[in-house]
Amino acid sequence: MLPNALYLERKLEVINADVTNHCNARCFFCFNDWAAFQPHNMTLETFQNLMKLYPLLRNSDYMISCWFEPTLNPKFFDMLDMLTPEFRKAAYFTTNFVAEISDENMIRMCRANLHHINVSIESFDEKEYQHITGVKHTHFFENLERFAAYSKQYNTHVQVITMLTKRNMNSLPELVRRTNELLSPVFHEIRTPHFFREDTGTKEALIRDMLTEEEICAVRSATEKLGYSNLFWDVSFTKESFSSMEKTRASIPASNHDIFYHLRVNSDGTARLGDQKNGRLIDINAPGDLVARVKQEIYEMEIQEAELDRISDAGMHFRRLPSEAPYGIDAVRVYDERILFIRGYDRGLKYAVSRGLEVVALMECGEEKTLFKQSQKNRKESAMAQFADKYWEYCFLALFDLKGCSDKPFTISLGYLENGEVVLIRDLYEYDPGACLS
Ligand SMILES: C[S@@+](CC[C@H](N)C(=O)[O-])C[C@H]1O[C@@H](n2cnc3c(N)ncnc32)[C@H](O)[C@@H]1O
Ligand code: SF4
Repeated sequence: MLPNALYLERKLEVINADVTNHCNARCFFCFNDWAAFQPHNMTLETFQNLMKLYPLLRNSDYMISCWFEPTLNPKFFDMLDMLTPEFRKAAYFTTNFVAEISDENMIRMCRANLHHINVSIESFDEKEYQHITGVKHTHFFENLERFAAYSKQYNTHVQVITMLTKRNMNSLPELVRRTNELLSPVFHEIRTPHFFREDTGTKEALIRDMLTEEEICAVRSATEKLGYSNLFWDVSFTKESFSSMEKTRASIPASNHDIFYHLRVNSDGTARLGDQKNGRLIDINAPGDLVARVKQEIYEMEIQEAELDRISDAGMHFRRLPSEAPYGIDAVRVYDERILFIRGYDRGLKYAVSRGLEVVALMECGEEKTLFKQSQKNRKESAMAQFADKYWEYCFLALFDLKGCSDKPFTISLGYLENGEVVLIRDLYEYDPGACLS
């Protein structure tokens, strides 16, 4: 065992499923590409298989339905009844409440005792609502009234999402007030539409109806005057950011090496682990041990992840220049007995950061050297885990594949690259199996 290391199993951060792949609305900001789907509903058998994934969930998110409208699947309420008690605690779904929902089904929804139910509320004004969602005849308003009563009766945790655009900006304060009176949501998220790489036909309308930073500030301050503390503003996407994204589109790389331990499950039971388009394909309906299959895929991805940021040390010189600046290590973990994860901050990186030099971590095991470059993403994420994003530049996060090294002495150091040289400023970690035994 490595000293001071936490041994963990890699699990899924998120299971993002959908029990259908269609919708009864056509919101102008929606990211779904309707031309790409033939309507399909998940079967109860596939839903049973979905629940088998429970052992792979950390204390994480389980979205039963996320991208589409779950109430369109006639079996949806049976699925809620089928949920195991553990899954109920983590599960949630999002609905637009456009479809007719009987009292009985409304009660089944509320008494399911899920982690929470997300309701999308774009407007309380029928004309404005239609302008945003494209729906002429909706059950939304009466569903909302009955949901308010049943959710109180069954103590359901309710959250609300409102998409903020030019089409509802003037009514936002009133929308927030009415939502709070009616539903008392745990959170009311106000979101400006996110942009997606692929244009699904909504781009023109988005450009026209996105709000500028100034407009968002004005609506926000008018709304905050109401004094509700459950508001959450996800408004970083603005008209300005969209324009600059358009200009820089060509420079966005096709793959940015982001790997999420994230399983997306479609209504037909096909699933992707990692990247939503090119990730590892898994059929949750295939015979055999589903958990073992997904675990094996996660394991292989993990090993790949440690390889992705590995760089060659061929022809590099190594120099030690120890720093006296403060530093700290906040996590040493070994995932699946194979991948060493080490995270912390080091003020000694100031020299490198101020000159834009590449920060690296080095593992030395016998004659073998493994050089791991520090991606900005990793450093930002480790900063968020430690100091709420403040000193991300001084943070580091390294992943090393321990294959062949876990029973041999090794060291890990931190440094940067300058003029073809690896300058090592810190000895971060040392393992000597002999020393542990004595
Ligand atoms: C895609 S919908 C699916 C669930 C359901 N049909 C509904 O709208 O409530 C899930 C949530 O994503 C939001 N959404 C839709 N398009 C979005 C976009 N471009 N950026 C961010 N959120 C979006 C919706 O408002 C909704 O709250
Ligand atoms: S209701 Fe949801 S899924 Fe349907 S169009 Fe609107 S945002 Fe998209």
